[in-house]
Amino acid sequence: MLENLTSQPPDALLALIKMHAADPRQDKIDLGVGVYRTGQGDTPVFAAIKQAEQRLVDQQDSKSYLGPEGDMGFVEALMPYIFGDDPTRGGRIQGMQTPGGTGAVRLAVALAQKAGVERLHMGTPSWPNHAQILGDIALELAPFNHATEDGRADIDAVLAAIDGAHETDAILLHGCCHNPTGVDYTDEEWDRIAEALASKGLFPIVDTAYQGLGHGLEEDAHGVRRVLDAVPEAFVAYSCDKNFGVYRDRVGAFYAKAKNADELETVFSNANALARAAWSMPPDHGGAAVRVILRDADLTKLWLDELDTMRERMRTVRERLAEAGVAGSVDLVPLGRQNGLFSVLPVTPEQVKQLREDHGIYMAGSGRINVAGLTMTNIDKFIAAIADVTG
Ligand code: LMR
Repeated sequence: MLENLTSQPPDALLALIKMHAADPRQDKIDLGVGVYRTGQGDTPVFAAIKQAEQRLVDQQDSKSYLGPEGDMGFVEALMPYIFGDDPTRGGRIQGMQTPGGTGAVRLAVALAQKAGVERLHMGTPSWPNHAQILGDIALELAPFNHATEDGRADIDAVLAAIDGAHETDAILLHGCCHNPTGVDYTDEEWDRIAEALASKGLFPIVDTAYQGLGHGLEEDAHGVRRVLDAVPEAFVAYSCDKNFGVYRDRVGAFYAKAKNADELETVFSNANALARAAWSMPPDHGGAAVRVILRDADLTKLWLDELDTMRERMRTVRERLAEAGVAGSVDLVPLGRQNGLFSVLPVTPEQVKQLREDHGIYMAGSGRINVAGLTMTNIDKFIAAIADVTG
């Protein structure tokens, strides 16, 4: 039986972690997988998470099962941050916990498919796992161009995709800090997208994995809120892995807006059934720690301060790159106006290989860099290396 399986390549992004770890060079630079790093190159546990975890150790009195929806205190505590005032929109939005943002995306697309969606529009390039998940559940992908060559959002392409969509289509949008390009729609563009979705009646899924890492928690929520206010039904996939730094704890949530409370109940009976069949229940620990933070004013303030520090550091790195102007054939200026952890450099796979082999610089084959891997100590080396391989 097992001889029927063919070998699969390791996930290219995750393989970079191992390749970087095995490189003995002291001055190697890891710009691969999307984790935040401090100016010293570390990915520490947030102080707010540490304190919340201590409280869990002291006060948690059971690890008994919760159910497929996970920790609803966590799910509900997040809602004002994502949806703003009136976070349930009068009882029309509800959520459940998922294993990371990946679990939320998986649940969202599987549920959309169950509801009759046959094809998903998505701006490309996108996070490679999006296409992988769609392939796994055999949902057709209809790609449109996400960014223009000068590093801005291709608003015409997304509006054309919406306009040309069929009745059984849906669209996946990145809420903020687009992965991999860092190119987000402006508030005005979100308004146009929301209006187009509403007038076409196209079902949106908004993947929000980096809230707070672009311009701020409120600012980064503009797109998702605008879309949810415009349409009668939508799904949101949310990740806390980055904005609470709990990557390996897998902390995510799935939210749905439905036309009314009855429909919402049916949506979640289906979501619970899908979750039960896939992972039964989400891991508890990270979500519980986030709940503890969000229910405590002091811990919330500590978390918000830590998030501000992360965002400001990434902004400083981006400004420094933009100031460098052109390195070899690469214009670094657009990186200054892009958001979040990622940007894509116009480099070939061969140049990516050269950067790795000759300079110890690790990035995705697509040319995506994690800007948080750059520090004031290694950024000049990085810029010089780009000039060297592309010049
Ligand atoms: C990334 O894109 O690097 C992150 O979202 C991590 C992952 O799971 O791919």
